[in-house]
Amino acid sequence: MKILFIGDIVGSIGRDMVFDHISRLKRKYEADVIIANGENAAAGRGITKVIFDDLLRSGVDIVTMGNHTWDQKEIYDFIDDTDYLIRPANFSDEAPGRGMTTISKNGVTLSVINLHGRTFLPPHDDPFKKADELVAEAKELSPLIFVDFHAEATSEKIAMGWHLNGKASVVVGTHTHVQTADDRILPGGTAYLTDAGMTGPYDEILGMKKEDVLYRFQTNLPVRFEVPKQGRGQLSGLFVELNDQTGKAMSIERILINEDHPFQS
Ligand SMILES: [Fe+2]
Ligand SMILES: [Fe+2]
Repeated sequence: MKILFIGDIVGSIGRDMVFDHISRLKRKYEADVIIANGENAAAGRGITKVIFDDLLRSGVDIVTMGNHTWDQKEIYDFIDDTDYLIRPANFSDEAPGRGMTTISKNGVTLSVINLHGRTFLPPHDDPFKKADELVAEAKELSPLIFVDFHAEATSEKIAMGWHLNGKASVVVGTHTHVQTADDRILPGGTAYLTDAGMTGPYDEILGMKKEDVLYRFQTNLPVRFEVPKQGRGQLSGLFVELNDQTGKAMSIERILINEDHPFQS
């Protein structure tokens, strides 16, 4: 199975980058499944039903989330009605939605799990313990398991990679919006990347208008960060190919598309 993952989609610039590139990426990588992190898809904060539907229509199969899951309150109204939108599994048991889903393509089944880090982030349930529970459950169905670990600290993400080495097929980090260059296949056959990076404004600070972020850094005064609607975009992500029988990763490739790194067919 060939899987394409798109890192945190930020605002309309990020969505347009997805819409502009998804067909040619799908063709280039012959992707069977496309997974995207959509926690910032609605102007940087959460996701709406219209945006979720647009992403699915464009070719995204499954949307994962993160710390911005609940920013758009309307998500409460539709998260329980779809199999294709998941939020971190180690949120409270009271939270709507769920943290794992499955998708089958050409007779091969993949489980997709979303987890949330706890270092420099709110104290959710133990993501390592939750990962063990869900991986055991997923293994009953198929050895192909994809994990989006939404976390701040590189160390916590690397720890999750090693924790799931040989258990999950892919562990990819999201949330920092900056792509790391440590893509590798761990000895147990787990494809690993600390952070996939962001799909959104290329000339701002983590997707937010740079003037606002600079103002806060320089004055320590409160300012509401905004996502610009115009400007250059970038798309960040990851491609992995898995063995359909064993679930082990056979290849891994980072994806980064912007004006300095143009798409290459
Ligand atoms: Fe994000
Ligand atoms: Fe995040």
